[in-house]
Amino acid sequence: MSHSQELKNPLKIAQGTEQHVVVSAQGEPVIRPSGLDKIKVQGGTVLKGNIPISGAKNSALKLMCATLLTSEPVELTNLPVGLADIGTLSKVLNGLGVQLALRSDHVGLFHARDIAKPFAPYDLVRKMRASILVLGPLLARFGYAEVSLPGGCAIGTRPVDLHLMGMEAMGAEIKIEEGYVKAKAPKGGLIGADITFPIVSVGATENNLMAATLAKGTTRLMNAAREPEIVDLGNMLNKMGAKISGLGTDTITIEGVKSLHGTRHAVIADRIETGTWMVGAAMTGGNLILENTSLDILGAFIDPMRRAGLDIEQSGNDIHVARETKPLIGTDIMTEPYPGFPTDLQAQFMTMLTLCAGAGMVTETVFENRFMHVPELCRMGAHISVQGNSAIVRGATKLRGAEVMATDLRASASLVLAGLVAEGETTVNRIYHLDRGYENITEKLGNVGAKITRLSE
Ligand code: EPZ
Repeated sequence: MSHSQELKNPLKIAQGTEQHVVVSAQGEPVIRPSGLDKIKVQGGTVLKGNIPISGAKNSALKLMCATLLTSEPVELTNLPVGLADIGTLSKVLNGLGVQLALRSDHVGLFHARDIAKPFAPYDLVRKMRASILVLGPLLARFGYAEVSLPGGCAIGTRPVDLHLMGMEAMGAEIKIEEGYVKAKAPKGGLIGADITFPIVSVGATENNLMAATLAKGTTRLMNAAREPEIVDLGNMLNKMGAKISGLGTDTITIEGVKSLHGTRHAVIADRIETGTWMVGAAMTGGNLILENTSLDILGAFIDPMRRAGLDIEQSGNDIHVARETKPLIGTDIMTEPYPGFPTDLQAQFMTMLTLCAGAGMVTETVFENRFMHVPELCRMGAHISVQGNSAIVRGATKLRGAEVMATDLRASASLVLAGLVAEGETTVNRIYHLDRGYENITEKLGNVGAKITRLSE
């Protein structure tokens, strides 16, 4: 698409709460309810072959929000259009007046030329917390925004106070009324400020990064998050004309500009999907080529995987992982903001520890309630005891298939991994969580030898 081209084919989005996006024979994305779908996995196969890694969900969502900062079209490539979260945010953006189209070749076209009212309703925001990321761009561009507060979720209360703190420092007047954040910028727009976050927050860094691009003067975000997805967002904003430096460090400096323009940008690889299949290779004694991804974005995840017994090497744009004969060895990990061990791979790593020789301790420091997979893994025969924010996993367990369910995306992924090695059949219920974050999971795993099927209600 040329940046001056109009979008002739705005996405039509079906009604429904829990959904996943499928691409029709005509190449159109269709969002359909998936709340009651199940996945059945027959354990005991070894993962061998190639898995193409999708674009990062947690980058794509922010890049989509950033398209609100310009009246010109933005084209995103390597966009994981098959994810339900992409569909949900598309609905939020569409509701705001953004013309958009998601294409089966992983391209998304976004044109936020006319925003009728910078208002994001509860109905849409409650389905996905990341919708709060429209606040910063809307406030910066229109001087006013009204966005529903997202509310808590299964992994913790997850407040957005730090998102708002930054915008207040930039001069915004913020009120919470009837469950909505009502934010108003000073007359001439947001004003650059020094903002020091008391704790590292990915979302607060991103929301304020986007808001600051159009503020008057210089903003410094200190104790900022350093996740690769933030670097990706900053890189795209710079391509749109923003002046951002310090990306990937804990101090990001943004010199405000008057306006941003359209661009074309490729979403980075999904490091969490990459890590999930690395764990799959380790658990099944497999041999996988993970395509179009990089060790550079995996931070402190690589070392414990190597110590556990997985051979890992970068080869061009792919990562080759194998553990064909080596035994699995237990090791301790603690989750931390990037480049520390990612909380989004904690459940998968813990599942691997159930097979390792010896014991391993997992400490979760990012979220207060992220052990929902523990009781389900125990139902499959795992020996895990939780003490506060740590879990001790006694290894060398023979997992047994069971009917299981999880209330969080990564916990659901860990149950699929457990199913791959369990004796007999595992049924993972309520897989709409998986549809939020793993594109074509049954096809991708089926292609590398897993006996996995999706049952639609
Ligand atoms: C992002 O969530 C990711 N989500 C999460 O991915 C990921 O687990 C998390 O970062 C940490 O890496 C997206 O990118 C859409 P935070 P975010 O703000 O931005 C507290 C997945 O599975 N906090 O870094 O919401 C918060 O409660 C997921 O894909 C405040 O107290 O995470 C948490 O304890 C789930 N006040 C900690 O900070 C605030 O204003 C870190 O949260 C904001 C956050």
